[in-house]
Amino acid sequence: MFPLLRRTLLVCLPCLLLACGEVEDTRPGQPVKQRQQAFKAMLRAFEPMGTMLREQRYQADAFARGARQLQALRDAPWPHFGPDTQYPPSKSRNTVWEKPQEFAQAKADFVAAVDSFAATVAGGQREASEKAYQQVYATCQGCHKQFRER
Ligand code: HEC
Repeated sequence: MFPLLRRTLLVCLPCLLLACGEVEDTRPGQPVKQRQQAFKAMLRAFEPMGTMLREQRYQADAFARGARQLQALRDAPWPHFGPDTQYPPSKSRNTVWEKPQEFAQAKADFVAAVDSFAATVAGGQREASEKAYQQVYATCQGCHKQFRER
């Protein structure tokens, strides 16, 4: 087999398997699916900026756009964490409902970091924007560590 083809297969196979094993959210209103989609949308806005930084091709206008997108999406997942919404395919930990104050604090930290990121990015400075980006990233990770299954 050609090496490239083999590598492609090796990379794609786990995704296919994952997709097959995924449980459908059949509850009315699909709260789990809704919050997962809201997080995915956040990731789609957030990740390209990280790629730009890693590849050392910061663009002020792309960052301004990305930060505005992220700001527009930052409140979307939370209303879908209602009581009694911990069932497959949820990847939340029970701590979301067991430690509501800590979860609220993690949300507040995230929202503050996103707003500060957007304000910084508007200034157009690469270094400051990068730092503010890392701060947002830290709040994503911080919350996941406590409240999301690995
Ligand atoms: C306050 C907590 C919190 C913050 C902040 C947070 N997340 Fe999450 N995230 C979660 C939880 C909880 C889940 C699991 C949702 C579920 O499956 O029930 C999750 C799931 C996800 C998922 C997986 C969605 C899926 O399809 O299963 C992605 C991607 C994600 N988050 C990206 C991000 C990004 C990017 C950020 C920051 C820009 C972020 N999250 C900030 C708590 C948070």
